[in-house]
Amino acid sequence: MTAKRPSRIVARSIRCVLLTALVLLGTDNIVLAESTSIFDTASYNSEKISEIFMLVLAITGLIFVLVIAAIAVFVVRFRARRSETEDEPEPPQIYGSWPIEIAWTIAPLLIIFVLFLVVVRSVNEQRPTQAPGDAVQVRVIGNQWWWSFEYPELGFTTANELHVPLDESADPSSVFMQLESADVAHSFWVPRLAGKTDLIPNRINTMWFTPNATGVYYGQCAEYCGTQHSKMLLRVIVETPSEFAAWVENEKKPAVNDPAVADGRALFLEHSCASCHTIRGTNARGTFGPDLTHLMSRQTIGAGAAENNHDNLITWITNPHVFKTGCYMPEMKLTAENVKTIVSYLESLR
Ligand code: CUA
Repeated sequence: MTAKRPSRIVARSIRCVLLTALVLLGTDNIVLAESTSIFDTASYNSEKISEIFMLVLAITGLIFVLVIAAIAVFVVRFRARRSETEDEPEPPQIYGSWPIEIAWTIAPLLIIFVLFLVVVRSVNEQRPTQAPGDAVQVRVIGNQWWWSFEYPELGFTTANELHVPLDESADPSSVFMQLESADVAHSFWVPRLAGKTDLIPNRINTMWFTPNATGVYYGQCAEYCGTQHSKMLLRVIVETPSEFAAWVENEKKPAVNDPAVADGRALFLEHSCASCHTIRGTNARGTFGPDLTHLMSRQTIGAGAAENNHDNLITWITNPHVFKTGCYMPEMKLTAENVKTIVSYLESLR
């Protein structure tokens, strides 16, 4: 057997760390600049979760300190002393002690029971099956590899970027979500807003959250769901009630029908684009891909794979695999001219 030289192992480790750093810095990953810390709470729910975390940390931290202190005391107090010689007899060996064994069985049981009660109470509160009060209802559907957000009461569907209103009422219950999957298991997790909930095929999970600060909050699919699992970005935009109402007003409208881009519209409807995407107000009614009715109201395309701008739309339609290798949107084999014409139509969908 030949052992690797330590210097080579060190060199390889350094190279590995540098490459990882390069990959992370080199991507135009929008999330890296944003906080996704569970301690940076921005909702009633994440505050509760953070409180439980601190409680668990305090209890386990105390146990850690006690154990380390006991080890230190025993190491010093019962160390081998110079005066002890080998022919001295061993100290008496004692086995078993009922009081001690009962104590160290009951104490951890009590601690676990208390933590169990605290967690169950919180889970029950945050996962009701009925929508509380006047919450905004959203049906979230996980797809390989994007998110569909349907607002059943408001009558429209959008994708990847969830808009919700800020709720400053005393009764926290502003967003109620029903989570489902179209294919495999996914997981919805926006750490600053709520706990993680899985989207499981043939099952409906529910959760709610109440944001307490406006802003854009990031999350990621948190359950491995195939090659592009890492490109299932979640953007949650928390707006003031009036901003949210304005957004809803625009989303409710059917797609803009601008005669100036009629050629692009015709091309879109002629090609198979229309069998995968919905554009309300046209014959495009596919649901395999994201609803594009108000595509330009979104900041990103491909579930956060790229910024939503002219050049990226051209690249995306020419070959989506440039941004998202293995995604289910095919290369349409269109001429550059046709791609441009379709993009001009898409850019009118505000
Ligand atoms: Cu969807 Cu991982």
